This record gives sequence, C-alpha cells and structure tokens, in this order.
Amino acid sequence: MTTREVAKGIYAVGAIDWDIRDMHGYSTNRGTTYNAFLIIDEKITLIDTVKHTCRDQFLANIREIIEPEKIDYIVANHIEMDHTGCLQEMMELVQPEKLICSTMGKKVLLDHFHHEDWPYEVVKSNAEISLGKRTLQFLETRMLHWPDSMFTYVKEDGLLFSSDAFGEHLASSELFDDEIDFSKLMYECGKYYANILYPFSPLVKKLIGTLEEMNLDLKMIAPDHGVIWRSHIPEIIDAYKGWSSGKAGNKVLIIYETMWESTRKMAYAVNHGLQEHKDISVSMINLKSAHYSDVVAEVLDAKAIVLGSSTLNNGMLPTMNTFIYYMKGLKPFNKYAAAFGSFGWSGEAVGLINSICTDLKLDVIEDGLKTKFIPSEEVLAQCVEMGRRIGDKVSADLQQEN
Ligand code: FEO
Repeated sequence: MTTREVAKGIYAVGAIDWDIRDMHGYSTNRGTTYNAFLIIDEKITLIDTVKHTCRDQFLANIREIIEPEKIDYIVANHIEMDHTGCLQEMMELVQPEKLICSTMGKKVLLDHFHHEDWPYEVVKSNAEISLGKRTLQFLETRMLHWPDSMFTYVKEDGLLFSSDAFGEHLASSELFDDEIDFSKLMYECGKYYANILYPFSPLVKKLIGTLEEMNLDLKMIAPDHGVIWRSHIPEIIDAYKGWSSGKAGNKVLIIYETMWESTRKMAYAVNHGLQEHKDISVSMINLKSAHYSDVVAEVLDAKAIVLGSSTLNNGMLPTMNTFIYYMKGLKPFNKYAAAFGSFGWSGEAVGLINSICTDLKLDVIEDGLKTKFIPSEEVLAQCVEMGRRIGDKVSADLQQEN
C-alpha cells in the first residue's frame, strides 16, 4: 500500500500482503491488507501497526509522511500479531509519549511483550483524548474478537477505526469500498464474518445497537483489513445486522465427503428431492474440493445444512471430521440440519454428525439416513424423499417470511 490520504491529514500507512494464502487456517485466497493509519495533528498519532513480515513496507509508508521518531501517540486497537507485529520495534524507535489501549489491551500487551515500563494510557468506552485539532473517542469492543479489541473514533472527521470488525481479507491497490467490485467485496466480508466473528454474533448484534445509540456522524469506517467504507456504510452495517441475527436466504447446502461414491450418490439423490422446490436454491459442496473456511462462508446464509459422510474407522471421513469440528467452534445458529451417509459394518458417521449438530443447537429435522455399502434404488428413493421433506420445511418458512 503506498501512502494515501484517507481524510485531510490522515494517511493509510499499512501494508498489502499479496502472498498470504493461510491465516491460521483461514484460506486467504485473495491475500489481505494490514491497515494502519497516521494522523498528523499537534500530537502525531499512529493507529495500529502491521504483521512483522510487512515491516519494511510499513516503515517506508510512514517515512513518506514523517520520520517515525516524530510520532507522539500509538493506539493499539487490537493486540493480535497481525496488528502488533511491529509494535516492539515501533516502541523502541518512536518512544511515544502514550501507548493507548483498552484495559484488557494492557493485560494482553503485557502477556505478549512483557514491558511493564511502556507508557500505557488505558482508555475505557467513551474516554476522549485530544490530539490538538482532533479528538479521539474510544469504544471497548471486548471479544470482538479478542478481549482487548476496541474502536477509535475521530470525532471531527467522522472516521471510525474499527479494528477487525467490518473488514475482509482482500489484497487490493484500491483503498475505498467504491473503488472495488462490490459483490467480490461483500463475499469476502461474509467469509470474514463466518470465520472470525460468527461465534460472537450476540455481541456483534449488541455492538451494532450501541453504535446506533451513539448516533455517530459516521463518514468512514476503516477496519484493520481490507477497504475503507465510505460509500456503502449502510450496506455493511445491514449485512452485520443480518449475519449476527442468523438471517438466512433461501439456500440449502449439501456438504459431503464420500469414500467409494455411495455417499455421493445419496447426496445427489437428496439434491434431487430438494430441487423439486423451485423457491429454494441448492448448493452442493464435496469437501475434497473445497477449503473448510470457504465452506463456512456458504454456511453463513444457508437456511439448512445437509451433511453426508461415509463411516471410516468408526467415525466420519477425515475431511468431514475437520470441517465439522471447525464449524462447531464457529457456532452457527438458526439453521436446520440433517445427515446421511454410507457405511460397511458399523455406521457411526451419521449419528456423530447428528450429535454435533444437536450440541450446536441446530434444528436437526431428520433422524438421519444411512445405508450399508452401495445404496439400492429404494434407499436412493428415500434420499430423494428426505430432500423433499427438508425442502417442504424450508419452503414453508420462506412463505411465512414473505
Ligand atoms: Fe486481524 Fe484479530 O487480527
């Protein structure tokens, strides 16, 4: 990211990571950015740093504006290492007057860097710090998505630095939401929500309420990843409202893994039954050809998930096992679920899937359909019937909603 002015005297000095394809298990197919911002005021202030691998880019960007030693304050909105990877070096180089963070931020900073002597300035929600012409206002956003997370709002510019919220993993030379393909942007935002914020949906819902109550004159939202929102703020806020409320579309998602094609035949038969409902959109994903972090992006707005796995060694197939445990951690909600699969002699996979979906409090609407070895015509007909029944349920809900 070469330096660009976000608002008068406020610069984007973060880094574009075109290369990254894995962020602790999240498949970042389009790379990402680590956003950091420099505010030139009487107190020159740096908002966040970047991942250590992007240190050179970051420092060069700052030096296009000022020498880093001139920075007075550093704000650490979030302590995860993709935003504090250069903090240690910056603290040594800059020796700032204040290192501004939340109460939990100080604790997490100490656990990361072990510096009791840093000039911490702990701020609580609604605290304000003047930079001269501008005022920073803070909002603690605990567990969104770390305990330390907070937002920083520049009152005079209507600019909200929102840390990981409202972001997406998308490397781009463009800085703003209106400079980039909107459907690509929203897909990546949904994927980001599903993989990072989904388990904290009740808190996200509350946060959106708090932001509305604060009645901020929001002109821009600048997250720590991806583009800055200036033209589509209502759209991203609405999307977060929907995702955090479990709002689903008309999609039924069949997710399966197969051993000797029997479970695949069952998946296609279930699909056949579902497709009799013209108001439903059916998507099928073979886990062998999709990354689990892309699959949960599809789960986010699905009304029902139908999961199929053959049984192997008294359990699910390995890729389904990985997927379902990953999904379990993300706590999807407000969905129907059902399971199917083939087996040789023990047949535990279907029961295991049902049990995990029940633990997740998904609405398991079928007992589960399993067949020994290769499905007969009769079993395939039962699969079609199962698809039909799931479709009936989803269709009835859709009619009620309209
Ligand atoms: Fe982008 Fe939670 O770090």
